Amino acid sequence: MLNRSCSCISEQCETPEAGKLCARMALIELRNISKTYDLGEVQVHALRPTNLFIERGEYVALLGPSGSGKSTLMNTLGCLDRPTTGSYLLDGVEVADMSRAARAGIRNKHIGFVFQNFNLLARTSAIENVELPLLYGPSMSSRARKKLAKEKLDLVGLGSRLDHHPGQLSGGQQQRVAIARALVTSPSILMGDEPTGNLDSKTSKEVIELFKTLNEQQNITVILVTHDLNVARNARRILVLRDGQIVTDTTRFEEAFQSLHSVELEQAAVSSAAVANEQSE
Ligand SMILES: Nc1ncnc2c1ncn2[C@@H]1O[C@H](COP(=O)(O)OP(=O)(O)OP(=O)(O)O)[C@@H](O)[C@H]1O
Ligand SMILES: [Mg+2]
Repeated sequence: MLNRSCSCISEQCETPEAGKLCARMALIELRNISKTYDLGEVQVHALRPTNLFIERGEYVALLGPSGSGKSTLMNTLGCLDRPTTGSYLLDGVEVADMSRAARAGIRNKHIGFVFQNFNLLARTSAIENVELPLLYGPSMSSRARKKLAKEKLDLVGLGSRLDHHPGQLSGGQQQRVAIARALVTSPSILMGDEPTGNLDSKTSKEVIELFKTLNEQQNITVILVTHDLNVARNARRILVLRDGQIVTDTTRFEEAFQSLHSVELEQAAVSSAAVANEQSE
């Protein structure tokens, strides 16, 4: 019987020194996390009690039909929303019951976000957009901010577009600016909700390639919600959600694809049965 003071999931874990975090502890540990929206008459179980462990350096894609709870799970993982029940240890710190302000601090330290519509300031240059999150962190000189922002724009291959405004950049380039902005505080986790949703297939390939490079070369943990099977194909682990639950957790794209397909087929069968019922009444 293991006697350990950490909450590590590894069966090989040796008891860590008292007061120290276990090196094997997962970066993200969800236990019985759920999210219910109480709409008075109706309760929406957006996320049913869920356990999930994500290690440092993983690349995880969340798939599932519309309404299956992907954004709810992502918003919980990203400390944007507070879960209704359960425990969420992020790098060993319990964040499930933190206040809004404390969660903002945790986000600034650990997490970079990328959004479907890029969320860049239109009248602001690429480098100024990337500098922005640094204004909310520890105080830093303007020169140091510029240096860091330039480094991240170089990293995403836009070192020659520092002074371009979003309107002067392609969709893929704008998303790369947004990724540089997400990385400027040096977070350990990069999260995105449909990051290729507004891109054509050629530019989405560039962005998919960039996520892969950041994960493999910078060891950044990447977690993406997506409907784009090419994004999922590049992930090293895929979670398929259905009705607020993770129904498949696999490293094999084919398995995830089959699971997703069977969920969609079942939903189509339920909808057509409902239509047939209505017509016969
Ligand atoms: N603020 C809210 N109030 C009430 N219900 C909500 C709220 N946000 C989400 N829901 C419900 O929770 C469920 C999960 O929603 P969620 O946005 O997580 O789905 P999703 O998988 O991201 O879908 P999509 O692919 O369409 O973005 C849905 O039934 C949705 O209607
Ligand atoms: Mg969503």
